Amino acid sequence: MSSKMSEPVTPPEGGDAPETPNLDFAGTTPYEDYVQADVLTHLQHLRSDDPGEMVFLVTTQVMELWFTVIVHEWETASRALREDRVPVAVDALKRSVRELEALNASWTPLAQLTPAQFNSYRSALGEGSGFQSAMYRRMEFLLGDKSASMLVPHRGAPRVHAELEKALGEPSLYDEVLALLARRGHAVPASVLQRDLTRKYEPSPEVEAVWAELYAGDQNGELVRLGEALTDVGELVWRWRNDHLVATRRAMGAKAGTGGSAGVAWLEKRATKNVFPELWTARSHV
Ligand code: HEM
Repeated sequence: MSSKMSEPVTPPEGGDAPETPNLDFAGTTPYEDYVQADVLTHLQHLRSDDPGEMVFLVTTQVMELWFTVIVHEWETASRALREDRVPVAVDALKRSVRELEALNASWTPLAQLTPAQFNSYRSALGEGSGFQSAMYRRMEFLLGDKSASMLVPHRGAPRVHAELEKALGEPSLYDEVLALLARRGHAVPASVLQRDLTRKYEPSPEVEAVWAELYAGDQNGELVRLGEALTDVGELVWRWRNDHLVATRRAMGAKAGTGGSAGVAWLEKRATKNVFPELWTARSHV
């Protein structure tokens, strides 16, 4: 798009025509300055001649952007919880629910790939795999699925590594929720509150009992509304994993993944994990 007009712009016919947008800018457009669309739309470096590779790459990039937005919302929610501002946290979680829906809808163009279509560019991916997505890993860390070994692939990328390392040592979104419940007088055990934050969160029967008690009470209470916003998040993350699993099964059956895993068998195991586990198991006791 040219930013300088050589000819003066002719106004539209008729005196009462609505004003047309400005066409004349000295440098790049203010839109470009803000959105950086020129950068964004030139990041598609294809590795094969297959016409189907473009949508595979762009869908992956779109998902990375959604991961970035969702991490931002969950970090906002975590901070708000730490400061006892529950409505601010619930607002951020609710925004993330709409964003997770948009993220999940972006599976559509990849959901029905046949093995032959995927094979047309698969070898061009080399050992590249979404498993190496640092932003997805930050989402998992915020959900409580911490693991120091997940930093290893990023040793060669200092900024990414530093961000992940920081996230590994910080309380997850769920840790902040449980700390809030404890401050509100609920019996969250000290072993949970003082857990090693760099390890995966393990479900606790006492935490399950806290949620069961809350869910048996006032349905409009602040903490039940927080619990439901978290449950929506958990359900949509589980849906993303399952949509990914089914798309993978359609595109490559039981072959090994480009990232070196057993492929579908490995993803199946990952997809069975419950996000915020006690929010699901507590329902049996209400
Ligand atoms: C239909 C196309 C796709 C196939 C066949 C596929 C296949 C796989 C496989 C087999 C794995 C396991 C690790 C490995 O060995 O590579 C994996 C992991 C992963 N993929 Fe995909 N994938 C596809 C599309 C995508 C897209 C578009 C994204 C978006 C970023 C993505 C993100 C991920 C993530 C985040 C993981 C790690 C999951 C975890 O750690 O639990 N995948 N994928």
